Amino acid sequence: MTADKYQARMRAHTNIALVKYWGKRNKNLFLPVTSSLSLTLDAFYTETEVLFDPSLKEDSFTLDGQVQTGQSLAKVSNFVDLFRRDFNMSLPVQITSRNHVPTAAGLASSASAFAALAAASNQALGLGLSPEEVSVYARQGSGSASRSLFGGFALWHKGQGDDSASSYAQQIDPADWDIAMLVVLVNPGPKKISSRQGMEHTMQSSPFYALWPEEVAKDLSAMEDAIKDRNIDQIGIIAEHNAMKMHATMIASNPSFTYWQAQSLLAMERVRQLRQAGYSAYFTMDAGPNVKVICPYSQVEAIRQALLDDFAEDHLVISRPGPAPYAV
Ligand code: PMV
Repeated sequence: MTADKYQARMRAHTNIALVKYWGKRNKNLFLPVTSSLSLTLDAFYTETEVLFDPSLKEDSFTLDGQVQTGQSLAKVSNFVDLFRRDFNMSLPVQITSRNHVPTAAGLASSASAFAALAAASNQALGLGLSPEEVSVYARQGSGSASRSLFGGFALWHKGQGDDSASSYAQQIDPADWDIAMLVVLVNPGPKKISSRQGMEHTMQSSPFYALWPEEVAKDLSAMEDAIKDRNIDQIGIIAEHNAMKMHATMIASNPSFTYWQAQSLLAMERVRQLRQAGYSAYFTMDAGPNVKVICPYSQVEAIRQALLDDFAEDHLVISRPGPAPYAV
């Protein structure tokens, strides 16, 4: 590689799992206990520019206009090391990133962040890796990031043993039909347990965790059928039950913990009531207090209107399925 500059700017969208990833079998390589399946969203994304330049003194990382140091810089710098190691080069990198999530958020952005950084590195360095291959890199920044290399519904294969290359994601359906997600932003509490800490603690101390891999295997196969059939009620029923089972493993950990807040429970209850009123509305939740409502796009505005009784307008964000990463 010559002493040239290599630059690219990519946008990657976040994704929400319908069948969750919860637990690693290999912490260093981010190899998961189970496969998982998600929907990429168009409303939330990260834009990242990378510049590999021999005239730079060292790596730098600016996030939302703030220069990052310490752990935050180390995390992305170590991530870019994966490319430097595999492609035998040592150029310093300047990374400039912007998260496009509503200000009231508290919505995790690590999936879109590492997908954007991996895609931009591939593009800038002209590596010509396939999206599946890029997803293997993204996975090692944040597991869920592997799925953000694809638009629509994505399946992240758990892979075999300690073989990193076998644990990649791929698109299973473009989701170009009547489906949407309404994100209910619940204000995050002061104490945040990261997904990494949460899953580790659950695996170590929850007697219910032993049941989780089997349940996921069943849910994945049923979910793939439901997606093929475009059966929104089946998709919703499986997703909601899967999320509840994941949160049950946490509630049963010792000491117990939960990401739920009072407002999360209120949102869940409202979704159940909307169902009774005839809507195809189902919820899912991740490692935070926000509630995401799965529903047909044709019903999402009516569902949003109903939730306005309890939630502020800027805390209700409608999203359609989102695309794979692209250059901006
Ligand atoms: O990849 P992480 O560390 O952001 O973990 C994601 C964990 C969940 O959001 C709870 C589930 C998932 O599959 O995205």
